[in-house]
Amino acid sequence: MTYLLAIDQGTTSSRAILFRPDTSVAAQAQQEFPQHFPASGWVEHEAEDLWRTTLATCRAAMAQVDAKAGDIAAIGITNQRETTVVWDRKSGAAIHRAIVWQDRRTAERCARLRDEGHEPLVSERTGLILDPYFSGTKIGWILDHVPGARARAERGELAFGTVDSWILWKLTGGKVHATDATNAARTLLFNIHTGEWDEELLALLGVPRSLLPEVRDCAADFGTTLPELFDGPIAIGGIAGDQQAATVGQACFQPGMIKSTYGTGCFALLNTGATAVVSKNRLLTTIAYQLGGKRTYALEGSIFVAGAAVQWLRDGLGIIKSSAESEALAEAADPAQQVYLVPAFVGLGAPHWDPDVRGAMFGLTRGSGPAEFALAALESVCYQTADLIDAMRADWAQSGGSRAAPVLRVDGGMAASNFAMQRLADLLAAPVDRPVIRETTALGAAYLAGHQAGILPEPKRFADSWRLERRFVPSMPTSTREKKLAGWRDAVRRLTMP
Ligand code: G3P
Repeated sequence: MTYLLAIDQGTTSSRAILFRPDTSVAAQAQQEFPQHFPASGWVEHEAEDLWRTTLATCRAAMAQVDAKAGDIAAIGITNQRETTVVWDRKSGAAIHRAIVWQDRRTAERCARLRDEGHEPLVSERTGLILDPYFSGTKIGWILDHVPGARARAERGELAFGTVDSWILWKLTGGKVHATDATNAARTLLFNIHTGEWDEELLALLGVPRSLLPEVRDCAADFGTTLPELFDGPIAIGGIAGDQQAATVGQACFQPGMIKSTYGTGCFALLNTGATAVVSKNRLLTTIAYQLGGKRTYALEGSIFVAGAAVQWLRDGLGIIKSSAESEALAEAADPAQQVYLVPAFVGLGAPHWDPDVRGAMFGLTRGSGPAEFALAALESVCYQTADLIDAMRADWAQSGGSRAAPVLRVDGGMAASNFAMQRLADLLAAPVDRPVIRETTALGAAYLAGHQAGILPEPKRFADSWRLERRFVPSMPTSTREKKLAGWRDAVRRLTMP
């Protein structure tokens, strides 16, 4: 049997999934790892935990079907994006914990850069905005806070990578220090128009060139694994950031197609083809994928808290025992109450970009209880998606795209909830499509590796294999929808008002 092995190194767990060449899932393994919160708004991972759980889950998935290295045509890596690792090239040990994408410690540095007038240049080159979300200022923080790090970096002794590069370095025993264009596009250091690291931005953020990985296509030769890790070498043929991999896995290859993935956060990407559309609504311009040296761009809306709101119901409030219980609880909520949760636990992402604001609830009455909290948490994800899709439609229409209500392809944990997806369709007033294969992030990584290995076809033909499992059609009366959305916007306005 021939398999493709997808590594999905995420924010709260590492997963490995073995796909058969017909893209059905043969085996999968998952391991969570500790989250570290050393200060308010700070989030860290032990880089070794990311590697240890990745290796263990690959081995576990292979063991389930007794797959040997020789049975695996190629590995594809997908990863939590922006999370920043700096390591010693000689020892292969990280010099500081990984600073996670959600981490806000460089908010002040970003504000200073903005005040100094640098944001237009950064946006023009990278498609991003000056927010602590991205890797650039996190690298600077590590170099400035680990004793001797800056001098070591300047001597070429250190390497930087987003998590894909870190895992690739470990898999190849330090032989390959590379990344792909989608991950590079999240660093604040990469010119998305030329496809190169940008010297001016490196100087602005104080990042020595010698730290950086080589940037390759998403389907490319990324080397082979150290033979002793498995029972022989395996080729590594694909890399993409998790949201971009989901875009590929959802086969959103045509301009105008949108996918939205519900993990820890929620990230919606609209394929804009060969044009890097500049947002007038505070969305990001990013690389959807790069194949054969050709870049396809996307508009991205990034929400930091989606599944994390349900986790908060479970771990913070203790009102559910498992995430799946949130659905039944929300369905029991009193429809007459309008309780809103603005889950700005780590600030707000698009389109507000406010790193300092924190979460709040509005509309509580003496009758509000766990059911209303659960509904507010699920609806907060839908409202935030509605804000993103509205902004996307406006940007897309302005750049000559269709004004019609888009169909949204959904995936990720929360996409399993019929209740949440129906509410999403209702609040968007647009159809929501859920595919048969919901492991779209891993599927995207497997596709890239399989394409590179020559066992999966070009994107157009791969798109034919995408299958609809269920379409959610909007059915909420317009007046109800408008009232609910107005209440949400009022809640966000009150929270973010200076
Ligand atoms: O940009 C952060 C994103 O890549 C993390 O994804 O699935 O962990 O929410 P997820």
